[in-house]
Amino acid sequence: MKNKIIVTGGCGYIGSHTVIELIENDFEVVIFDDLSNSTEKTISRIHKITGVKPTFIKVDLKNQEATSKAFEAHKDTLGVIHFAAHKAVGESVEKPLMYYKNNLYSLLNVLESQNENNINNFIFSSSATVYGTPNTLPITEKNETQRPFSPYGNTKKIAEEILDDFTKSSQDFSAISLRYFNPIGAHESGEIGELPNGIPNNLMPYITQTAAGVRDKLMVYGNDYPTKDGTPIRDYIHVVDLAKAHVLAVKRLLKKEQETALEYFNLGTGLGYSVLDVIKTFEKVTESKLNYEITDRRDGDVPQLYASTDLAKEKLGWSADRALEEMISSSWTWEQNLRNETK
Ligand code: UFG
Repeated sequence: MKNKIIVTGGCGYIGSHTVIELIENDFEVVIFDDLSNSTEKTISRIHKITGVKPTFIKVDLKNQEATSKAFEAHKDTLGVIHFAAHKAVGESVEKPLMYYKNNLYSLLNVLESQNENNINNFIFSSSATVYGTPNTLPITEKNETQRPFSPYGNTKKIAEEILDDFTKSSQDFSAISLRYFNPIGAHESGEIGELPNGIPNNLMPYITQTAAGVRDKLMVYGNDYPTKDGTPIRDYIHVVDLAKAHVLAVKRLLKKEQETALEYFNLGTGLGYSVLDVIKTFEKVTESKLNYEITDRRDGDVPQLYASTDLAKEKLGWSADRALEEMISSSWTWEQNLRNETK
């Protein structure tokens, strides 16, 4: 019998790529998703890519009763990867209560249901945003966390604190929190990728939508930061590399290799690229010119954020191998496929 894993938010961007990697590593996958920011079409695309159709349950994890029922039907699960959450930084500033309610109720309901059913392994989808404005770079897991700028970011920090308390209170429960830097890129098949809702907040989908003619112009938020070209530096990571780290984290929990009941790992490449680096690489890869303009800084952006990935390498045996060019070309292929589909 295969080891069964529940993936909440498995129809979403990082979730769907992780489902593929899990299937390819011979896990049985059950997806819980409310489809609030994703589509059920993703299930058939995963089927097309892997030859396996994961079980899908449409469930609103904010609803305790519904969550409990969904878990009840899958008591024989060995672990949960919890992606399901709202993730738009700007929206979270406008609607903080919606973000706290959705992201934290869901987490609590999932943990409670796991507890009821003795499902003792948990992987959390966290973010580098928990480091706030770091004083030292590259960021190691030993860097102190700070209150993130946005309510969205704060839900990640609070979630980690909840996990810290819960793992301490329970003999059997183990968790790994994976702190993502800047995930971009799409699956090489061109079948799945990011589906931003409305106007994208993030750089990569904004670039590809501008190049595809959906947006007029990319606004570059500030060129007066203390960096080599004045634009902020980030650690962009290919979503497929990120997905592979989740499989290794699951295996670490199942083999009971973790050293503490709650572990944290940075997931990035360790390389920093500026906004202008990304634009120039996009222009090179696509042999086109991007329409962009420098404008004022955006609130909450930090000048530089890039990871030390030593711990993930040492403990998970993981490192990212896809370079920026591949991240960008796969994002572009995905954008073009999306446009052809909506024509
Ligand atoms: N940027 C632009 N123009 C845009 C969009 C982004 O210039 O239209 C710039 C930003 O100012 C920033 C860089 O591109 O310098 C990257 O911005 P993203 O929005 O793509 O990524 P962030 O680093 O701001 O966001 C990431 C994650 C969030 C997380 C946040 C915390 O996507 O989930 O880090 O730092 F909350």
